This record gives sequence, structure tokens and C-alpha cells, in this order.
Amino acid sequence: MKNKIEQYLHEAEQFAENSAEQVESFRIRFLGKKGVLNDLFEDFKKAAPTDKKELGQMLNTLKNTIQNKVAELRESTDTDGHHLELHDLTLPVDFAEAGTRHPISTVRNQIVEIFARMGFTVAEGPEIEDDWHNFTALNFPPDHPARDMQDTFFVEHNKIHGDIALRTHTSSVQVRTMENNQPPIRQIFPGRVYRNEAISARAHCMFHQVEGLYIDREVSFADLKQALLVFAREMFGAETQIRLRPSYFPFTEPSAEMDISCNICGGKGCNICKYTGWVEVLGCGMVDPNVLENCGIDSKTYSGFAFGIGIERMTMVKYRINDLRLYFENDVRFLRQFESVY
Ligand code: DAH
Repeated sequence: MKNKIEQYLHEAEQFAENSAEQVESFRIRFLGKKGVLNDLFEDFKKAAPTDKKELGQMLNTLKNTIQNKVAELRESTDTDGHHLELHDLTLPVDFAEAGTRHPISTVRNQIVEIFARMGFTVAEGPEIEDDWHNFTALNFPPDHPARDMQDTFFVEHNKIHGDIALRTHTSSVQVRTMENNQPPIRQIFPGRVYRNEAISARAHCMFHQVEGLYIDREVSFADLKQALLVFAREMFGAETQIRLRPSYFPFTEPSAEMDISCNICGGKGCNICKYTGWVEVLGCGMVDPNVLENCGIDSKTYSGFAFGIGIERMTMVKYRINDLRLYFENDVRFLRQFESVY
């Protein structure tokens, strides 16, 4: 009899079916009126009194094992007989690993947000551009070096309709906006631009700019300077100083480049600002009247300013990144250092 009980015990422990039907037939076979356990209890009555203590304990163990098994399997079986996973609902949530936002996106969003607060709306233009929008309308003379194969990625050379190229700057979007809208115009144009440059720590063939354009009656250089000062202080802190250096761009007159006081050394001099205390961050100027006329805007009635911010450059200063290539290599050790998307 002992052997029999041990065998049944083993069988019950091994039982792992979980369809509702199978669990029910298991229950009937062991616990039913004519089931195994009742038979065993009948045999028990006839057992020798000296064996009864041990046999009794074994039978109770078997009965408990079977009852527990049935209860456990019933719980993991739904009414249709399908298996249900046993979830522990009290466990802490297993967070999916969150990515981080690319620093270029973060800084672009910040630039857009700051200018949005000054009333600038956002527009975009195509990355594949024709000669007119990228160069000619912007007052580039036909032999300007920027049109050269060495600087521009051409998609198609076309003597009749003009060349098609990857835009070399977001200034092309200015032209599209002025062609399609009359002043007042107050917009910024974020986007990706391309130049045929050897890739190094300081140059890349693909980078990002945010172009800005403000055209209305009586817009002056003072308005440009004030808008850029507000921008620089919002971006780099209230202590930030700006400096405008005379420069040249075909599409602005006068033109300037803007430096900000180096926010890393506080103007004292470090290797980011090359010990000058200043870092160049954008080009700007008053829109050349030729450009206004090229785009169908009356240059006697209207004037305006424009600027072009290099996002990579701004991000380098903001996050002290010393190599442009890091932005585009997608090395997660670099990317994980930035703002989480949550
Ligand atoms: N397009 C120029 C560049 O790519 C940047 C620039 C300079 C844009 C002056 C402007 C501007 O709108 O006024 O280097």
C-alpha cells in the first residue's frame, strides 16, 4: 500500500495539464466518489494497526497535494479552458529603456521656441534646391566660389533651367517665403544643409541651420541687434554679451557675424573660444534690396533683417562638444549623455 501511495503522490506532483477539462478529470479520478482516494481510505481501514499511523499521514499528504494541485491549476485556467499566465500584479513596472533626444534636436527646439516667443513662425523648404533659390535670387554673382563643385553637391547640371543641387544653406527658404508672401514677414526656417567638405572635427558635409527673416516697414539694424541679443541671453544666460563684427554675404548689406561671450570660461579665455573670450555663432545682416526685388518685394517700402544660425556650432558651445563627427556617428555612449525623451 505504501508503494501505491508513493506512486500516486508522484503522479499528482507531476501533473501539469491545464485545460479545464483535464483538470476536472484529474479531480474526479482522485477525489471523486469512486476515486483513488476513497479506495485508498477503504484499504486503510483493513490495514494492520501498527501501520496505521504512517499510512494515515501518507494518505493525508496525498490528499492535500491533490487538492492543492486542483486549486492551483483551476486558477490558471479561464472558463474557456485556456491557460492564463500567472502575473504578479504587485511587481514594480519594468520600464522600457527610454531613448534620448539628439542634442541637435534639443538645441533646434530651443532656438525655435525662443524666436516663437518673439513672434516668429516656422516654415520649411526643400533640401534639393534649384540654382535660383540657393544662389541667384540671393544675389550670388555667376562666378561666386560658393557655386563651385568644391563646395556644392550638384544633383543635375542643366544649362537651360539652371543647376539642381543640395541646398548649401537655409537662406534658400527666405527666397521661397518672400516669393509667396508680402510683408510683414516674421519667420524662421530650420533645416539640414549640405556642403562638399572633407569630414573632420571642425567640418562636415551635412549640418543644420536655423534661418531667420523679418521684413516690414522701417526695420532697422537696431531691431536686428536687439532680437539677437534677446536670443543670445535666452539661450546662454542673462550674463551673455554679444559682439557684431562686419562681414560679407551677397544677400545682406551691411552684413555681420555675431560672437557671444564664451559661456565656458566666462570671457577669460579657454580652448573653446581659442583664448579670445568670444565664440562665433551666426551670420546676419540687412536683407539686400536686390534680394527683396528678386523676390517681388518693393525695396522702397520695405526693409528687413536676416540671420543664419549654425546649430552644430551652438550645440558645441552649449554642451562643450569638441568634435563635429560625434553628432552623426550614433554612438550610444555619446547620445545617452543627453536629455531623455521622457
Ligand atoms: N547663409 C549663410 C551661411 O550659410 C548664413 C547667413 C548669413 C544667413 C547671413 C543669413 C544672413 O540669413 O543674413 O553661411
